[in-house]
Amino acid sequence: MVAVGKSEGTWWSAPRVAVTGLLTKAAWAWAGVPSGPLGWVSSHWVMPRFHARIYPVLARELKLRPEDDLLEVACGSGVFLADQAQQVHRVAGLDLSGIQVDLARRRLADRIAAGTVEIVQGDAAALPWHDDTFSVVTCMGSFEAFPEPERVLAELVRVLRPGGRAVLNIGERVPPGTQTHQVLGAIWVWSEDDVRHMVEQAGLSDVQMSYASSSGDSRLIAMANRIASTFEAELRLVHGLRT
Ligand SMILES: C[S@@+](CC[C@H](N)C(=O)[O-])C[C@H]1O[C@@H](n2cnc3c(N)ncnc32)[C@H](O)[C@@H]1O
Repeated sequence: MVAVGKSEGTWWSAPRVAVTGLLTKAAWAWAGVPSGPLGWVSSHWVMPRFHARIYPVLARELKLRPEDDLLEVACGSGVFLADQAQQVHRVAGLDLSGIQVDLARRRLADRIAAGTVEIVQGDAAALPWHDDTFSVVTCMGSFEAFPEPERVLAELVRVLRPGGRAVLNIGERVPPGTQTHQVLGAIWVWSEDDVRHMVEQAGLSDVQMSYASSSGDSRLIAMANRIASTFEAELRLVHGLRT
């Protein structure tokens, strides 16, 4: 007699795999590395508005000085860099998405022409700059989806000058006892200890965490979040120095 177990090959497995694959591709094109029509809409209209709440928080934490050379990794359409460019010596941004890079270049065209801004299409895990190039590096709303976060950190530290500072938004504060894991097969959720260990291993010292409402300074979004009981998470900001 043949034992009948839970079948892997039920009639709905093939359509289910196909639908899951399509949804994953759509989500990636929308918010992972924007591409195609979905990526166009999210880059032009959704992301800059959705992330607008975290830009002032990062700006405050970065404490930029006029002599700073700032790098934003995964800079998206360059909204944050455009806000900061006038306050510092030089800014650079890198993003993997062609749509985002085109938008950022258009947004910062005057400053690119003046030679104080550089926007590059590339992978955060292989930065195209020499060692010790920047005095400040930042990254927001992106880090937890990088497939190789340790390599990205190593690159961020490499391009920082000795004494340079990093302020990185790495996910959100998690409840005590949370184990590091991935959700949706792609997004990292790190425990506080693991995130600290990871950045120290990469070469940052004096590591400190701070937290900020994920509603940023927007009272409207804070109110909407409370009503919907969603997104009342706190952004996790990791500060460190390159020795
Ligand atoms: C949610 S958006 C955030 C953009 C920007 N930091 C902001 O707050 O507006 C995430 C960005 O990360 C970029 N990205 C994803 N993987 C990347 C990688 N490996 N290297 C560089 N950029 C990447 C995407 O193209 C996308 O523009």
